[in-house]
Amino acid sequence: MEKINLKISRENRSGIIVCRKSDPGRLVRAALPYDKSLLIMPEDMDEKLKRRLKKSFPGEVFLMSRGRGKELAEAEKIWGVMLKKGFSRDSVIIAAGGGKISDMAGLAASLYMRGIRWVSIPTTFLGQIDAAIGGKTAVDFAGVKNVIGSFYLPVFTVMDISLLEGLPAAKFREAAGEIYKYIMITGKKTSSKLARLLPGVERRGEKAVYECVLECARFKARVVEKDFLEEKGIRETLNFGHTAGHAVEMLCALPHGTAVWWGIKYALGLSLETGLMKKAEHERLLKLLGSRDGKEILKLKGAFGRFLEIVRSDKKKRRRNNYFVLLRRRGKTAGLADIPERILKSAYSSLTFGVNGGADEN
Ligand SMILES: NC(=O)c1ccc[n+]([C@@H]2O[C@H](COP(=O)([O-])OP(=O)(O)OC[C@H]3O[C@@H](n4cnc5c(N)ncnc54)[C@H](O)[C@@H]3O)[C@@H](O)[C@H]2O)c1
Repeated sequence: MEKINLKISRENRSGIIVCRKSDPGRLVRAALPYDKSLLIMPEDMDEKLKRRLKKSFPGEVFLMSRGRGKELAEAEKIWGVMLKKGFSRDSVIIAAGGGKISDMAGLAASLYMRGIRWVSIPTTFLGQIDAAIGGKTAVDFAGVKNVIGSFYLPVFTVMDISLLEGLPAAKFREAAGEIYKYIMITGKKTSSKLARLLPGVERRGEKAVYECVLECARFKARVVEKDFLEEKGIRETLNFGHTAGHAVEMLCALPHGTAVWWGIKYALGLSLETGLMKKAEHERLLKLLGSRDGKEILKLKGAFGRFLEIVRSDKKKRRRNNYFVLLRRRGKTAGLADIPERILKSAYSSLTFGVNGGADEN
């Protein structure tokens, strides 16, 4: 078992526990007294896992309805249960599930009675390597992803890799998109280590999964510590691949990690087209990224206008027309704003080039 301390200030900190198998409830209770707990899980999660978590956290349970997204309406239902059951500022929310649950439950915790403590128990691989670290909470609103949210750290995050046992293999492949993000933006040592671990992770080897979770959590925690509120240009490096990735996620209805993989491919193309990255480095990184089935992005064909709209609605652009985190070379990011439309389009056309079906006109 390893513990990573994420400390923003004396009052604002979070403990991240990475372990192979635990009773998460016991770990949490040993460190955190509380009167009542609300365990929030997705309704459609593996039954065995739901039973294990209910046993570990006796108390109230809220199941997020199958098929529901990160919606304010779900958070309202959570507040309704908490009020009805007499939850106070000494109570705690336990968010167990994927990134959707931690984003939404974290937001619910940050607003109930002006903020009550919460614990994150990520049960997806993507949750463990990324979503559950760093206290970004959010719901989607009016068709815009993560637009209503807060920065609100959980008191604890328990990354127990045995919770991933029932997770379909596809969920590991999807999350690889976020691992590629780390491979592209981290320094040589971490980047090479993650690249070495990736095949083992895709085979779901226990050692590779454990090491990968630990490495990603350590890296992300250090980045978040330096720039919790994303004001210094440090935390935003974690958004590499995400501006286009969010557009792909929405337009092609792809899982987050898969969309991020395509977003990285677009960001590499854009890094080349804007002259930030040299051709040889672009080819090297594309090779490292490997390939995926172009059918996944069929819906991008002919959708450049909509893509642009989503890119322009990204909250990170602030007052600018658009904003992308790009790469000069592996490990060296650069933020670029107001990229001309023809360059955005050229990178888009090369992304969709050779993808069959739909209109040819981008
Ligand atoms: N806040 C952040 O920093 C951050 C970072 C990355 C992604 N995200 C968000 O995370 C979300 C995606 O998260 P995700 O990929 O973890 O998945 P998810 O939350 O979208 O869905 C997970 C699905 O897997 C099922 N599931 C969860 N654990 C399981 C298990 N152990 N066994 C079997 N089934 C299980 C659930 O029932 C659910 O249907 C997106 O909304 C994205 O915006 C947030």
